[in-house]
Order: sequence, then C-alpha cells, then structure tokens
Amino acid sequence: MAELGELKEKLSEIRSKIESDLQGISSSKGVYEYKKSVMDAKEGKIGSLMKEMGKIPKELKADYGKMVNEIKNWAQGRFDEMDEKFKAQERKARYEKETIDVTLPEKKHKQGKLHPNTQVKNQIVDIFGSMGFSIYEGNEIETDYYNFTALNIPQDHPARDMQDTFYLSPEFLLRTQTSAGQIHVMENQKPPIKIISPGKVFRSDDDATHSPMFTQMEGLVVDKGITLCDLQGMLDEFVKKIFDEETRTRLRPSYFPFTEPSVEVDVSCFQCHGKGCKLCKGTGWIEVLGAGVVNKKVLEGCGIDSNVYSGLAFGIGIDRIAMLKYGINNIKLLFESDLRVLDQIDD
Ligand code: PHE
Repeated sequence: MAELGELKEKLSEIRSKIESDLQGISSSKGVYEYKKSVMDAKEGKIGSLMKEMGKIPKELKADYGKMVNEIKNWAQGRFDEMDEKFKAQERKARYEKETIDVTLPEKKHKQGKLHPNTQVKNQIVDIFGSMGFSIYEGNEIETDYYNFTALNIPQDHPARDMQDTFYLSPEFLLRTQTSAGQIHVMENQKPPIKIISPGKVFRSDDDATHSPMFTQMEGLVVDKGITLCDLQGMLDEFVKKIFDEETRTRLRPSYFPFTEPSVEVDVSCFQCHGKGCKLCKGTGWIEVLGAGVVNKKVLEGCGIDSNVYSGLAFGIGIDRIAMLKYGINNIKLLFESDLRVLDQIDD
C-alpha cells in the first residue's frame, strides 16, 4: 500500500497547489485557461494522472481510479464555482458600464426640409394637377429651333435680345424659357393637350431679382374653342390657391412672339389687399406671369390645324412666386443654400 500512501500525498499536494494557484486568478478567462492546463491529458496535473495507471499494481487499480476521479470532480467543482463567481462580477461590471442615463437630454438631429422653390413647385403642380394637367419634363439643353425659331422668334428677331442666351454651340443652348417644351409636346401629342412643365431656365442676367439660373413653370392647353377667358378662369383659381382666397387677377396687354394676344398677369397684392404697400410698390398689384393665346403660326408649325384648335399658354416664375410668398427680397438667397435663410421657410 506504499504506492497508495504516496499517491494520497501527491494528490493532496496537487490540491493545495491548485488552491493556491486559484488565488492568483481574477477572471473567468483566467479560470478557463488554468482549467485547460490542469486537465490536459498529456501534461496537466490532473489530466495526466490516468497515464500512471499502467504502473499501478493490478490490485490497487480500482482504488487509484477512485482517488483520481475524486480529485477530478473536486477540481471541476472548484473551477465551476470560480467561473460562476467571476462571470457574475464581470456581468455586473458590464451592466454598470452600459447603463443608459435616461434623464440625459436627447441629441438634437436637425431635420431637413424641401427647398422653398421645391415647396412652391410642388404646390403649383398640385393645383394644376387638380385641374387635370399632367407634367411634361422638358430638356435643359435645347436647340436654337425649339427655344426660339419654332416659337416664332426667328434669327434676327429683337425678342432674342430680351433673353440673353448661353450658347453651347451655334446650334445648342441652355433653354432660356420652358416654352421650348411646348413645341416638343405639340409635335408629339394630339390635342386635347393639357400640360405643365416645371424646370430650370438660364439667362445671362444677374442682379437682385435676376439670377443666371432660375425656375419656371410652363402651362399649355390646346383644344377646340379655347379662349382667353379660359386662361383667366384658370389663373383666378390658381392665384386663390397659391396666395389666398381674396387674391384677384388683372390682365394687361403685352407682347410675346409665340402668343397672340399676349398678356401680363398681375395679382392683387396679397399683403395689403390693394391698398398699396412696399411689396406692390404702392400700386396694389404685383406682376406674376406672362401668358396668352398660342400664336396660330406656332400651332401650324407643329402640325396642328389652327382653324380647328386653339391654345393658351402661360409661364410662371417659380422663384418669383417663392420670393413674394415668403418675403425674400434677393433671388440669390434662394440659391446660396444658407440654412439660416432656408430654415425659416416651411409651408
Ligand atoms: N416664356 C415667357 C418668358 O419666359 C413666358 C410666357 C410663357 C409667355 C408662355 C407667354 C406664354 O418670359
């Protein structure tokens, strides 16, 4: 039994060694690593005990096996205990670190909004949409023919000087008016036609009320028996909706080569309601758009029989409406993207 006595002593040494080693461990990871080393079948203090089995005399094998199992179970129990203890500590520390202070003020996320021009464009589209208009998206790059010639503005026509043009080549240019889209529509659709066409236009113009790039909304109606009265009725409805119920329109004779007769449309000042103020320069009226009955020459040029059909067209300055509605006195403010300005406008 000398062997067993020796073994008992060896096992109790192993126990106290493990106990003292465990004192130096302070994390669940440490416990895991240590357990792995102790239980290793080749080199582990406990794991390798089974290797000794061969050397144990037959009659002692059963006792030896029992003792080895005992220490194995004891060690496993200790490791589990330690692991649980450290895991609990670690969980607690993590929860403390991750605690959210629900009383802290929220971080403010600035919400974006639509550009004033886009807001106004959407409003105008909605208004005309409710009257049955559909949208035609024209091209920003046009040919001289669509922007001028087909609109009854031939090469040497003085009206060309009214719109200082950015030419890209002798043939191509940046459209100076959304009216260019009228021609495309009339060439490609058969009457009845009822479209609006919003978009950017370009003119070499630059002061407080003019920008080299600005936005227009073209309107075109072609059908049988269309007259200037239809135009006024439609525009009356439009200005009441975009400004307010009391707004009225006034047509003044004007000149555009592609409409005959042509009119300039004023609205009664929605700020002073006609009394006269700074906005309407004391007149009680504000000019908002150009319009007219489509010139027969233009209809015919697009293959539309002017004896059967007539049309009306209008061109609204979207920026101008935005400036009037929101009291913006310089068109540049619309295009400089200064959030201090744009933030104030939310309709
Ligand atoms: N295209 C003209 C302009 O830019 C406006 C307009 C459109 C006038 C349609 C009459 C008819 O000044």
